[in-house]
Amino acid sequence: MKIHARTERLVLRDWTPGDVEPYAALVADPEVMQYIGNGQTRSREYAEDFVAEQIHHQKTRGWMRFVVEEAASGLFAGFCGLDDKTGRLDFGWRYAKAFWGRGYGFEAAAAALYVAQNAFGLTRITCQSVLDNPGSIRIMQKMGMSEIGTYVAYGETVVVYGFPGEWPDGFSVPRE
Ligand SMILES: CC(C)(COP(=O)(O)OP(=O)(O)OC[C@H]1O[C@@H](n2cnc3c(N)ncnc32)[C@H](O)[C@@H]1OP(=O)(O)O)[C@@H](O)C(=O)NCCC(=O)NCCS
Repeated sequence: MKIHARTERLVLRDWTPGDVEPYAALVADPEVMQYIGNGQTRSREYAEDFVAEQIHHQKTRGWMRFVVEEAASGLFAGFCGLDDKTGRLDFGWRYAKAFWGRGYGFEAAAAALYVAQNAFGLTRITCQSVLDNPGSIRIMQKMGMSEIGTYVAYGETVVVYGFPGEWPDGFSVPRE
């Protein structure tokens, strides 16, 4: 199992089948899922499929949504990393509630961004959030991203962030 980065308090690593259990618990929590997609919780089957997909990506291209583990406890905290399902590089994060509010979100995002850019050479990374999720938007801003577009999904405005200078021809949000 590959470790992609270590920070002061976190480890960013590959997925293993053992991560299904804590990830299924995370996506079954309505508070965690309230700002994601249709806001519904997800099933254990969804978690199994998600983990299988991440394992496929790590075997084939190396990058994906990295597992974020708390270094001191060895506990699965959530994920942080890249996905390209929408046709653009989408940087995202999702943590179990027990790990919120300690600076882990930004600590992991800074490390995952470094890995994405330097180990995998990824550019034109985007990030998106509904306006109601200030913690997520704050992480984007702290990474140096700024707003490049908006679109509407499930009746909510979704704001898309990117790095200034990477969009010389502007940005148009692809249909999702
Ligand atoms: C959003 C989420 C990733 C934030 O993670 P976190 O580890 O709590 O974030 P951090 O502690 O690193 O905080 C980052 C910044 O956001 C701010 N912040 C975090 N949560 C906030 C909130 N609910 N309201 C306002 N600001 C908030 C912090 O104060 C910090 O800013 P600062 O350094 O200027 O003080 C986490 O709450 C989460 O996983 N939520 C559920 C899944 C989700 O919504 N994912 C994103 C979908 S777009």
